[in-house]
Amino acid sequence: MEYALSVKDLRVSFYTRRGVFKALNGVNLELRRGEVLGVAGESGSGKSTTGLAIMGLLPRNAKVSSGSVLFDGRDLLAPLTSIRKFSTGRNESAIRKLHRELAPIRGKRISMVFQEPMTSLNPVLQVGYQIAETLVIHNPSLLASRKLARVRATREDTTALLKVIKENEGSETAVREFVESRHLKGLEEQALFIWRRNDINELRKERLILDLCCEKVGSTTKRLLESLEGGMGITKAPVLSRLLRRVLFKEGYRKAVEFLSTLGVPNPEKVVQMYPHELSGGMRQRIVIAIALINNPDVVIMDEPTSAVDVTVQAQILELVKDLKRRVNSSFIFISHDLSVLGEVSDRIAIMYGGRVVEVGPKEIVLKAPRHPYTTMLINAIPTLDGREIRGIEGEAPDMRNPPPGCIFNNRCPFAMDKCRKEEPPSYKVSEDHYVACFLQGGK
Ligand SMILES: Nc1ncnc2c1ncn2[C@@H]1O[C@H](COP(=O)(O)OP(=O)(O)OP(=O)(O)O)[C@@H](O)[C@H]1O
Ligand code: SF4
Ligand SMILES: [Mg+2]
Repeated sequence: MEYALSVKDLRVSFYTRRGVFKALNGVNLELRRGEVLGVAGESGSGKSTTGLAIMGLLPRNAKVSSGSVLFDGRDLLAPLTSIRKFSTGRNESAIRKLHRELAPIRGKRISMVFQEPMTSLNPVLQVGYQIAETLVIHNPSLLASRKLARVRATREDTTALLKVIKENEGSETAVREFVESRHLKGLEEQALFIWRRNDINELRKERLILDLCCEKVGSTTKRLLESLEGGMGITKAPVLSRLLRRVLFKEGYRKAVEFLSTLGVPNPEKVVQMYPHELSGGMRQRIVIAIALINNPDVVIMDEPTSAVDVTVQAQILELVKDLKRRVNSSFIFISHDLSVLGEVSDRIAIMYGGRVVEVGPKEIVLKAPRHPYTTMLINAIPTLDGREIRGIEGEAPDMRNPPPGCIFNNRCPFAMDKCRKEEPPSYKVSEDHYVACFLQGGK
């Protein structure tokens, strides 16, 4: 099985004035390529901490005592686990090292939609600027190629390109092969975006595609764009760098318009000029999702992306996630305390309790035939329209400063046995692809 990312035995504690909270107590998660892995569990079960740990965004009072986050053959958290004796000072310098190491990955190959969408947008910057900024930071060569492609393309090129699009009914492969053969990389996404628009008629589409050529650009700008396209970073020389950034941001706005349009945002040309406070909650959430996805990352972590919006917008966002899954190559970790939301979007579901994954399996099985007592109770606590009695989960979540020995759920579990108070249950394979950490499943 090919994994996009795997979390192994991750243990994280938070050092606070009120004591040390053991937030993650051996989390194991494997994200497969192209899947949506839903993560559920009640408040405080460690869902966000797991997401933040994967992103390397833990606060300085968080100690990673063991475990790893494996991505692309390396352990992303290695700088944090190498600390022997914890102190916030030592942790802070390890976190700085981690941030330096993760800079080329975070936002480009792994990105996150945070639990509070309103706070992750900057209120004083246009949303187009914020989307463009992620492109300028992580993918400036793509922006350079897009612009240079319109400079290099002749009318003959775009006429032939239009013919290829029409003859192949907008096939991505055919268009990509054509632009590569003419050294016009970067033109394909612009042309296909126009071709797929359904707010304009065919004649207008043709005109716009034919016009993707013959752009004029100053010789200095052209040279700067060419060196960027060739793999050099953005020049450090102040005047040239300002000139180049202006061109890149303009191109970034252009790509932002295209991308927002594919996310179903009406009037994207206007939206990119707006500030976050001018947009509705659902629209802001789409902008946050656009920022997370614009660089085509391998892994996207979505932390409660629908909790701050009403049910109608929630349905639209879920549709969007399902659509994205079909269209992009990313793998998603979708965190939500709402199992019905996860039932909509996930391929597999992992249930967390007390900083551990207690059950994981295909969504139909976890939702219809759960095997862990906590999962069953969680499902029984979902309100339904058929008037079924809702049964809440009795008892209190454990104090994570001093979690109970043995199974972390033993103080609330109606089936708890002596063994459960002494030993931690391992994860038992109960059927194909279905794992449950409970002694009832094999270790009585
Ligand atoms: N910065 C922090 N300092 C101290 N404790 C923290 C910190 N962040 C999280 N915690 C604690 O870690 C535990 C796990 O928190 P986390 O935010 O991961 O839960 P969650 O499953 O995302 O919950 P929710 O559904 O409420 O978002 C909780 O007990 C929480 O109080
Ligand atoms: S291991 Fe024991 S306490 Fe834990 S869920 Fe299973 S039966 Fe309940
Ligand atoms: Mg959370």
